[in-house]
Amino acid sequence: MDTKQKPTQQYVFEWARNAERDPLWVILSDPAKRGGKWELEEFLGTGEVEVESLMAWMKASAIEVDVNGCFMDFGCGVGRVSRALRQRFASGAGIDISSRMVERARDLCPTVEYRVNQTSDLADYSSDRFSFVYCHIVLQHMNAWIQERFLKEFMRVLKPGGIAAIQVPIGIAGKATEGERSVLGRLAALLPKATASRIRAMLGRDIVIEMHTVPAASVRRLVAEAGCEVVAEPYTNSTDMAFNGRLKFYDRDQALERIARGETASHYLSQFFFIRKPSPAAEVAVADGPNRQDA
Ligand SMILES: C[S@@+](CC[C@H](N)C(=O)[O-])C[C@H]1O[C@@H](n2cnc3c(N)ncnc32)[C@H](O)[C@@H]1O
Repeated sequence: MDTKQKPTQQYVFEWARNAERDPLWVILSDPAKRGGKWELEEFLGTGEVEVESLMAWMKASAIEVDVNGCFMDFGCGVGRVSRALRQRFASGAGIDISSRMVERARDLCPTVEYRVNQTSDLADYSSDRFSFVYCHIVLQHMNAWIQERFLKEFMRVLKPGGIAAIQVPIGIAGKATEGERSVLGRLAALLPKATASRIRAMLGRDIVIEMHTVPAASVRRLVAEAGCEVVAEPYTNSTDMAFNGRLKFYDRDQALERIARGETASHYLSQFFFIRKPSPAAEVAVADGPNRQDA
């Protein structure tokens, strides 16, 4: 299938199967943890570590977020990160395409309002609602048209004055190409489709996790069109093959050097976009100002 045109329903099917096969490994795909090898406590601990690093970086960068408001964790999986965010925010919502992931998240953190969303918008959520929108290691698994729709939706549901922290791989460094296949993948491509998928299922290799990049210029354009502002765009280790929640921030040269040194075991260049929706305070000040016409 041409993944550029792939419909949302195909993703619903694939993530349902991924969540059934190896739910924690499809979230943090450290090769050493494949095949149900994540211990739940250790896995959940990675969410604490991630939120700690995120908040520390935001504080050091003077990016303030209203923790008395509500956060949205988009593509929440089993709630690895929303559990940790909930300890800091007054309330929170988690959204995922997979009902199995959402069921597990509800068990693990009943104080977050989790919902299954199998559409390509956030129509269930009103505008200007969340003080913080978080989306990490999620948009990269969707094709461009769905990513663009969600990026616009994140800014719509963000409260004026709120912050969206959205991570995307902005490109591929080095000689790899998008859609690069393993040896097994190359062999499978030579077989009839039905035979190939039967063999993958027999080998327990029918997990599908696509990777798609989004040019940074497209993110900036969408942000500007929505009347929002990118306040910071650091590089991160989110697309490292063995990413385990120890979120690190880099400048561009550092990020490229890590890839060149083979530290990432992946060629993706990951960026976090911190986006602010302007607060109407400035407009209110003008409206309240001395604009009367005295007789
Ligand atoms: C790599 S996991 C990351 C989970 C979570 N963000 C974390 O870091 O623990 C990607 C998640 O995105 C979800 N997902 C994929 N496509 C989605 C979509 N179109 N809408 C909502 N969730 C989606 C998957 O079900 C999966 O739980």
